Amino acid sequence: MTGAGHKDNGTEIELFANAVTTNKTAFFREPHHFDFLRQIWLPERIEQARSSGSRKLRIWSAACSTGEEPYTLAMTVLDTIGATASAWDVQILATDINSSVLDRARSGIYGLDTTEDIPRATLERYFLRGTGQRANQVRVRPELRKLVTFQQLNFIAPSWSVPKDFHLVICRNALIYFDSATQRMIVERLCRHLIDDGYFILGHSESLLGHTSFLEREGNTIYRKRAGALPNSPLPGRPASKNP
Ligand SMILES: C[S@@+](CC[C@H](N)C(=O)[O-])C[C@H]1O[C@@H](n2cnc3c(N)ncnc32)[C@H](O)[C@@H]1O
Repeated sequence: MTGAGHKDNGTEIELFANAVTTNKTAFFREPHHFDFLRQIWLPERIEQARSSGSRKLRIWSAACSTGEEPYTLAMTVLDTIGATASAWDVQILATDINSSVLDRARSGIYGLDTTEDIPRATLERYFLRGTGQRANQVRVRPELRKLVTFQQLNFIAPSWSVPKDFHLVICRNALIYFDSATQRMIVERLCRHLIDDGYFILGHSESLLGHTSFLEREGNTIYRKRAGALPNSPLPGRPASKNP
């Protein structure tokens, strides 16, 4: 719809998406993924950094909802790289179709009741406690917030303005919105933004639906992109990403 007094079509689609999407999420949701990152993936990256001299980490939380997932990733990374954190170049991209959850994520403000699964020492390290009327709220500390960039992105948009050099893409509990052919297309498209040997993580109730030609199973809903199996270029017939 266009014209005075009416929302334009883009805004209507956005309001519709904001109304119909299910945004359930939590800090440290499906914790075995974060155990895997802490115990396997990050030590591997640290070892690679020692030999290559490149201390770079690029992570994409696709369908991040209100931000608990990317902030949990940021806490996991900082806790694991520890005292050497300032020597690392860490960037976490967090995307979602829903603009209102992204606004909440950017604010970094959460109810105290949402922090139950955050270990106490981690909570104290990365969150500020509200006072007065905000005593039942916490806010993510700036050093954690600065690692995460939030961006609106629709999985089925014709092009994505997203880099192609991720070491890890995590896309949990979002594919449920799509039929199996579209799920396959989204998984393949996401994996084109991974480097060779990069990791791909799905939600626990999701499966790869036979995508094993370019992904190798490394654990429960944890996969690794086979080197050379899938060029990180756009799907045939699709417009190129603006940011290859
Ligand atoms: C249930 S939440 C999952 C949040 C988080 N990944 C987790 O597992 O805790 C699903 C998210 O998918 C997003 N989503 C739904 N359709 C989408 C689309 N077409 N493109 C991008 N994100 C979408 C929703 O807005 C919602 O925030």
